[in-house]
Amino acid sequence: MKFFIDTANLQDIEEAQALGVLDGVTTNPSLMAKEGITGKQNILNHYLAICNIVEGDVSAEVISTDFEGMVREGEELAALHPQIVVKLPMIGDGVKACKYFSSKGIRTNVTLVFSAGQALLAAKAGATYVSPFLGRLDDVSTDGMHLISEIREIYDNYGYQTQILSASVRHTMHIINCAKIGSDIMTGPLSAIKGLLKHPLTDIGLKQFVEDAKKMNL
Ligand code: E4P
Repeated sequence: MKFFIDTANLQDIEEAQALGVLDGVTTNPSLMAKEGITGKQNILNHYLAICNIVEGDVSAEVISTDFEGMVREGEELAALHPQIVVKLPMIGDGVKACKYFSSKGIRTNVTLVFSAGQALLAAKAGATYVSPFLGRLDDVSTDGMHLISEIREIYDNYGYQTQILSASVRHTMHIINCAKIGSDIMTGPLSAIKGLLKHPLTDIGLKQFVEDAKKMNL
């Protein structure tokens, strides 16, 4: 399973990249705003800075909600850097824009997906990635993980090439369950990725090894 980091914070991206397990980055307008980035040129420069840190795909989301606006913005984003993937909202115009970009060979990520039907539409429109939001479903007492398994089953039934990019991942168990179900990718915060490292028996065992190694007078 590929690991993407869901942030626009350059330090977090650098830290995940340095760990050697990072395959890409997802951003959204809220994450960009959180970094205090304002103005079109600064935003484009920030995407470039992210592309210079990682080797994989970087999702950059359009702000427009109409087809013409999404096409205009998406073409500009795609031309910015070969790693950029155009992120589009799961609305009618977003599906139309997805079809437009996929027919031109421009990679897309359809976001804000909360149902299997929406994921089916994204696949039919030729999306490169579909982003079902696990954590936000869990937030409203709905099993986000069940949605990932439904999408896996549907895509496998018909051999859709759209990759399941499980999003809104909040913690380690989301990551582990995504991997068990067969999600192609998960995107989550640095804290969830680093959380996978933790086990008290690892720490206790290493402490003992370090102490015993001293006895060997190396
Ligand atoms: C997906 O691409 C989104 O950026 C993201 O995963 C949303 O996560 P959140 O629900 O934690 O905001």
